[in-house]
Amino acid sequence: MKGLVLSGGKGTRLYPLTYTKAKQLIPVANKPVLFRVIEAIRDAGIREIGIVVGDTAAEVKEAVGRGERWGVEITYIHQSAPLGLAHAVKESREFLGDDRFVMFLGDNCIQGGISPLIEQFGQSDWNAQIVLTRVSDPSHYGVAELDDDGRIVRLVEKPKEPRSNLALVGIYMFDRSIWEAIANIKPSWRGELEITDAIQYLVEHGYRVYPYIHRGWWIDTGKKADMLDANRLVLEEIEHRVEGFVDRDSQLIGKVTVEAGAEVINSVIRGPAIIGENARIVNSYIGPFTAIYHHTVIEDSEIEHSIVLEHSSIVAIPHRIEDSLIGRNVKVHRSPIKPKAYRLTLGDHSDIGLL
Ligand code: TTP
Repeated sequence: MKGLVLSGGKGTRLYPLTYTKAKQLIPVANKPVLFRVIEAIRDAGIREIGIVVGDTAAEVKEAVGRGERWGVEITYIHQSAPLGLAHAVKESREFLGDDRFVMFLGDNCIQGGISPLIEQFGQSDWNAQIVLTRVSDPSHYGVAELDDDGRIVRLVEKPKEPRSNLALVGIYMFDRSIWEAIANIKPSWRGELEITDAIQYLVEHGYRVYPYIHRGWWIDTGKKADMLDANRLVLEEIEHRVEGFVDRDSQLIGKVTVEAGAEVINSVIRGPAIIGENARIVNSYIGPFTAIYHHTVIEDSEIEHSIVLEHSSIVAIPHRIEDSLIGRNVKVHRSPIKPKAYRLTLGDHSDIGLL
């Protein structure tokens, strides 16, 4: 079996962080979501992984490389334009050949990996298997309807009156019948070749499409709140370790990771939290569910339930920062210049909440 990871797309819902940067490289608990996806596929025993890339190809390639780090072989597939998930699969034909494959959206995070479902599909003669999970608000998702034998009979995008609470998770498994399906579907109203239409084609043409019901958590990290949720859930699960320096005046409470080269001086860190490589935390409070990425400085400030990306600094901020997603090379500091005023340099689509 092969793996196909979709890492193209636009990432409009995470502007301004994703104007030029790939959203799949935003870290959750200090590891890019895309790396977590590659690890999940590798852990399921798959060695050949294709990554579909778009405008952010250079950045993805630089971060991921050829895959030696994970013991896998990565092939990059350039999608000519972000014209939908089925379009991304179509453009991966040469890499996939007639093999069975698992397709994983590069911005999705799933608890417990995918080994059980790969095993189930591998042993079956099903043509496709799609991962579903029970949700409380199905009308916001793609929803699957099953028959009495548990086989999928219909997929409906964001139904007004959902007939089930089983939503599609961004993981799908296919055999070669997908090529016939993709060749026979047309772009949707939003101009994209939809993978749900391809699956619907399989169902309607007598192919065997079965669900895999995932019972743990699953997060599509498309928006800020979802990134923070994924960060919270992963921080609670990872093994924590202290490799950096923590001085005697500091306190680490609960599950805290301090990565190599990081320094914690006269500060309190209440976990679950992670402090990245070569970061500096000085006279500060870092609260639960916070991830501070590498080379970032937090000084005389308080922050919790937030993600701060690399090479940023937050210095002498009088109020606690919460629920925030702060990009790369960002400076948040007090301005001593009179008159007293906010002085801001904000990118397009920035969102700041002042007291
Ligand atoms: P989406 O989150 O559905 O789309 P998007 O990346 O364009 O994001 P937004 O809605 O914020 O503009 O995409 C899911 C995943 O699939 C994501 O990792 C990007 C990838 N993708 C492709 O590789 N090619 C495509 O044509 C599309 C639509 C998505």
